[in-house]
Amino acid sequence: MIDFKNEIANELKKVTSIEGIEDFIEIPSNKEMGDYSLPCFKLAKTLKKAPQMIANELKEKITLDENIISKVEVVNGYLNFYINTTAVIKTVFDEINEKKEMYGSSKIGEGKNIVLDYSSPNIAKPFHIGHLRTTLIGGALYKIYEYLGYKSIGINHLGDYGTQFGKMIEAYKMWGNEYDLTEDPINKMVDMYVRINDLCKKDEDVLNRCRENFKLLENGDKYCTDLWNKFKDLSMKEFNKIYDVLDVKFDSYNGEAFYADKTDEIIDILTKKGKITESQGAKVVDLEDVGINTPCIIQKANGSTIYATRDLAAILYRARTYDFYKCLYVVAYEQNLHFKQIFAVARYLVDEKYVKGLEHVAFGMVSLPSGKMSTRLGNVVKIEDLLNETIEKAKEIINEKNPDLEDKDEVAKKVGIGAIIFNTLSTSNIKDQIFDWNTALNFNGETGPYLQYMYVRTNSVLEKVGNVPDLKDVDISVLSDDASVKLVKELYDFNNIIKQSAEKNEPYIISRYLINVAKLFSTFYNENKIITDDKRIQNARAYLTYCVNIVLKSGAGLLGIQMPNKM
Ligand code: ARG
Repeated sequence: MIDFKNEIANELKKVTSIEGIEDFIEIPSNKEMGDYSLPCFKLAKTLKKAPQMIANELKEKITLDENIISKVEVVNGYLNFYINTTAVIKTVFDEINEKKEMYGSSKIGEGKNIVLDYSSPNIAKPFHIGHLRTTLIGGALYKIYEYLGYKSIGINHLGDYGTQFGKMIEAYKMWGNEYDLTEDPINKMVDMYVRINDLCKKDEDVLNRCRENFKLLENGDKYCTDLWNKFKDLSMKEFNKIYDVLDVKFDSYNGEAFYADKTDEIIDILTKKGKITESQGAKVVDLEDVGINTPCIIQKANGSTIYATRDLAAILYRARTYDFYKCLYVVAYEQNLHFKQIFAVARYLVDEKYVKGLEHVAFGMVSLPSGKMSTRLGNVVKIEDLLNETIEKAKEIINEKNPDLEDKDEVAKKVGIGAIIFNTLSTSNIKDQIFDWNTALNFNGETGPYLQYMYVRTNSVLEKVGNVPDLKDVDISVLSDDASVKLVKELYDFNNIIKQSAEKNEPYIISRYLINVAKLFSTFYNENKIITDDKRIQNARAYLTYCVNIVLKSGAGLLGIQMPNKM
């Protein structure tokens, strides 16, 4: 593909001595201001000249191939570049013709491993709506990195370890026969846990028995281990229902328990390096030197390790096992301090290149509007029910709009799930969200169903045309109207958008982009007749429709949204 920005940068490099001039080139949000623009006020200080003068001088000196950059203009100290429309259409069409549904992919990540820690719910606890967000952000980033040639490794760092399991075992011993765990096991386990916790507060003996159970579990006692496995299996069965519906996968389920026997080494290394201090009997690592006032606890006074210790063991293990380029933690921002602490301690455990690769991909809170759509049992929202209800709702809408549609169930599933995924991935990670199903399912809003609807439209156009025209029968000079040109330019950006989304770990960059593509297609479609007697025009417009079809499908696929063929 022609890299227009690079063409401009290379020419600018020839005529100025400014280091990294390419980094100053911007893509104006308003294309009237050029497709690329150089804000010369940013060079004014170095060159000791007025921006307008710099812009004029640069314009004089550079010579750009008109077949690539058709116009250069000086406006208010900006040097604006307009790309040649024929060139951009040709390069997009050629590239899509060659790469098809892999359009936008690249190999920039080849040979680099990205570890993604996402979803990671706690055993015997509900999978809540915050977990839904990490699951979807993580699942999308997984695909986005793969598309750029990286190797993604998805890890479900299950919360399957801790003293609470000693309590759960005791609760089961005492009341196991009261609960039928074959149905709705998680809520029942939560119930048992609340009950035993209350009892522990009142009865020291019970508490001691719980502690004893945990010790037995740690030492591999058969009865306790079997029970722990039972809790884990019951929980996983519930979690897997959600993963199945969402089509989210993991390469590893090594959770906290996996690291239980790997924490000694951490304490060892830190001790040998003299980084451990004692604080009220606990072993801690002081982090004042990097501006963190809360030391990181490594071992409690009673000798047990904590969440952080197991995460440290995980960093060492992941560095050794995956030799990662990045290790991303998609976890709510509530855990900011935790990640700051463990990343700071990590410098004593692994090579600097690994420390640099550690990143907390923090996300905001999600709340639910209380209403019909949320099934509540006590205070617990069952995500599985929510997913199913959304699919049901999608089915109602489809029944209304297109009662004769084939495979209605399949389509409703894609639309319902697509609505949830898009809604979750439509704002930047850190923003708090309200999960509102009615907005998510609005076919006319900026939603998953809207994208799917536009995609289906491209399908029906292509169906009417018969088949996608051969590129050699396409005369691109036909596509000179504003709507067509704007649409092609947007399609040109796809790879760049994916790269940005990976750089910032923000899937919403792709979701916003897809909405733009869909809207521009809608304008193009309304302003241009695609099926006409003039085959020259029909072929060109049909080919452009085909390109939109590819970008919408591939882009949605990166977010985890599946496209129905009809709806
Ligand atoms: N289990 C934790 C929770 O539900 C999230 C774990 C995130 N991953 C990690 N390596 N700490 O809050």
